[in-house]
Parts: sequence; C-alpha cells; structure tokens
Amino acid sequence: MEKEQAECDNLADLLAQVTKHIEQFQRFEHVDAVQNKVDWLDALNIKLPQQGIGANRVIEELGLHVIPNGSQLAKPGCTSYITTAGTDIAAVAILAGNSASPQRVGITAFNYLESLALQWLAEMLGIPADMQGILSSGGSTANLIGLGAARQRAFERIGLDPANDGVQRACRIYATEHSHHTIHRSAAVLGMGRNSVVHIPVDKMMRMSIPELKKQLEIDKKSDALPVAIVANAGSTNTGSIDPLAEIAAIAADYNIWFHIDGAYGLPGTLDPAVHDLYKGLELADSITVDPHKWLGASVGIGATFVRDTRALQQTFSQGGADYLDTTTVDDEKVENSMDSIGFPYHDLGVELSAPARGVVVWALLREIGVEGMKSRVCRHNAMAKWLAEQANNHPNLELILEPTLSICCFRYVHENAQDLNQLNKNIHRQLMKNGVNIPSTTQLDGQYVIRPCFLGARTAWHHVEDLLDEVLKIGNELIS
Ligand SMILES: Cc1ncc(COP(=O)(O)O)c(C=O)c1O
Repeated sequence: MEKEQAECDNLADLLAQVTKHIEQFQRFEHVDAVQNKVDWLDALNIKLPQQGIGANRVIEELGLHVIPNGSQLAKPGCTSYITTAGTDIAAVAILAGNSASPQRVGITAFNYLESLALQWLAEMLGIPADMQGILSSGGSTANLIGLGAARQRAFERIGLDPANDGVQRACRIYATEHSHHTIHRSAAVLGMGRNSVVHIPVDKMMRMSIPELKKQLEIDKKSDALPVAIVANAGSTNTGSIDPLAEIAAIAADYNIWFHIDGAYGLPGTLDPAVHDLYKGLELADSITVDPHKWLGASVGIGATFVRDTRALQQTFSQGGADYLDTTTVDDEKVENSMDSIGFPYHDLGVELSAPARGVVVWALLREIGVEGMKSRVCRHNAMAKWLAEQANNHPNLELILEPTLSICCFRYVHENAQDLNQLNKNIHRQLMKNGVNIPSTTQLDGQYVIRPCFLGARTAWHHVEDLLDEVLKIGNELIS
C-alpha cells in the first residue's frame, strides 16, 4: 500500500522546530518585511511543486522566509487599527482545537466549551443570559448575523419571509458615519443594499445624536421604506465613542425597531469602572456583537453575536436537513458515540457549517487570567489613552482632538510655524512607519488629520505609549526645524 506522504504523527518534533522561529520573531528585533521583500519573494515565488520537500524542510523555509517577514500587527508598539496578535494561550488553544476537534460538531468537550465560552462572555460583559450566542469568524460575520435576524423580524411583521422569498421592499438601517463598514456590507449581502444605511449625525463626542435620530425616524414614517434596525456603536472604530445606548434602546422600543449594538471592539470596555455606566442600555439590545480576537487577545478568527429572538435568527440562517446528517436524529438516551449527535446546531444560527472549535480559545483566555485579568488589561489600555490625552492637552506642540472614551486617543502635533497641519501630521506618520517601532494609524476628524493609536494588544505596556509620545514630538520638532 502506498504510504501517506504528509507527516501525521510527528507534531511534537515539528512544533519544537517551529517554536524557535516564533520565539525569535516575538523578540521583534527583525527588520520589517518590506525591507526584505526582494529576498522573500524570490525564495517563495516558485512554481507549483510536483514533488514535496518534506515537513522538516517546510519548517526550515517557514523559519527562513515566512515567519521573520510576518506582520507588524503582532508588535507591542503597533497600535494601528483595532487588531493585535493573540496571546500565547490563544495560539496553543487554537492548535489544540485544530488537532483534537477539527469541526464544531459532535458531543465533545470542545463543543461543550463552545457554549460555555458564550455563557462566560455574556456573564462577564453584562449580556442577558437568555440571549442566544454564536461564535463566528469575527466582527464582519458577527454583524451580518445580528442584522440578518433583524431583517427577518422586520419583514415578518409585514407578513413577508425574506429568508425564503428575498427582500421585496426598500429598507432602512440607522447608524452613524462612524459605524464600521461591515454594517454597510452586511446590508448589501442581506439584499437590503448599502444605501439602506442612513447616517444619523453625531454630537461633539462622535455619538449618535438622539434628536437627529428621532427626526429621521419621523421623516421615514411617511415613506414606504421598512425600518430594519438601529445600530449603535459600543466603541466606534474611529474614536472609541459609545453611542447613548439607553436612549437609543428607548427609541427603538417606541418605534418598534430592532436595536443592534456593535461592540466588536469596545464591549469589553464595560469592565472598566470608569466607563462602565456608558454601557447602560446594553441589556435592552436585540443583538450584540463582541470580538474575542480584539481586546480579549484571542487568535484571529473569533467573533461573537448574541441575539434575543432565537427564532428569527434560526429562520434566517437555518440550512435545513440533509440525509447525510441523519445521525443528528439519535435520541439523547440512545447516544453511544460522540458522533451520534451533531451537538448544539450552531450551523443553523450563522453562515458556516464547517467551523473550527473557537470556544476552547475563549475558555482558555478566561481560564488563564480570569475576569480580573481582562479587567486590568482593559483598564490599563483605557488609562494609557487618557494619559496620552493629558499630555496632548498640556504640551504646547500637541493638540488633543477628541477626549478619549476608551483606549483610542486622537491627537496631533501642532506648531506655530506649521502651514499645513494635516500635511505635517501625515509626514510625522510616514516617518513613524519608516522607523517601524511605534506604529499608530491615523484618521480624519472634522477635516483634521490626526494620529490615532488604539491601545489593545496584550503585549502593549506603559512604556509603549511613552515611546510613541516621545517619537511623535521628536519627529515633529525635526520636521518643523
Ligand atoms: C466596531 C467594529 N465592528 C466590526 C469590525 C469588523 O471586525 P472584523 O475585522 O473582525 O471582521 C471592526 C473591526 O475593526 C470594528 O472595529
């Protein structure tokens, strides 16, 4: 019989080999991937191999050409966007799931953790225990799932079933311009169209304006468009602002509209006593999203949605039965093998059938450091943004553009000799990127180009915020002189 060529029983040895390269990467002493691009492209850009080189040589190539040319996002000084590298236990747990539970099916400890992780997330973040949770690949999918259920309920109220018959009417989703574009894409994918998202103006703190929301709802009462959802940010991507959740909840109830909260980034902020009260009203939402792969330090590919109306959720995403799945019908008392049941039917609550075990990662994160550990991370990062804001307020060459709500601080360098502050701050950012140590991203607020670090990574410590401040001032001073 021909032997299987892929290594299938040598994992420990292979891991020992690759671990050395990962450890080396995590010292963050290597040059940036762009600077080596010619070399790694040259080494990796080869023809489709007809013959393999074996696992040991693959690891050698990983160590030589791939791992050292990985992403800056893993760096503790990288405060770009809203993303980071998972913690060590997340990497271990994802590997464990990959090896011991390659699917989210069956009566297994992994599948038990899928549900337990959702329960723990809900309890930690103040999400009502009776909301149905589901883990998915991240905030994009998590928002799609919540808005899918919203669409279902809105149409059912007028006697239509969009899951079966499609969308037959113009729709409205109310959000602010600071809502993540996955809201718009969800509207597109769900057949309502990006243009169904109406931007409600914001107040000075970049929060949804309640009078403006009411005004728009009154205008739309006279139109044919079907109101599907009001989407609030619990931590916007741009600035970390939190929309007035309790007031929006009351309006959503008055107008009988689904209330969705996008807390992909900011929901864990509720653990910080300094801002906890801003989350009041969360418990009134119809759907809520939060991404363990952001602030909680999970490996990428893990988002969560919680939905109050499980029936609407199921009606939207149910994939229906199939003959090859008939083991799911074994009665509980007759179960003799973990494959006798598919386990909890998560595949009917979202867009994936095949899916990795994700609960094990969330379980491992919380088991490792508990709620207290998460709370101290969130408080540390929020305090960093506050500290930076104070420095920006007090330094003659810095300007705070928006008081931080969570762990994002929007500020810029200023100087009386500067003619174009936007260009100057762009140039400062270019130089930060070139130096490659402190890597914030930028954004635009009211036409002002600002530097926008988001403190989120588990490896990001106090000296990183101090280093960033020093470097911005140093570059700014150099450019101006
Ligand atoms: C508020 C918010 N919602 C949704 C998303 C999309 O999440 P993902 O990138 O995990 O799909 C992001 C990403 O940063 C976000 O900040």
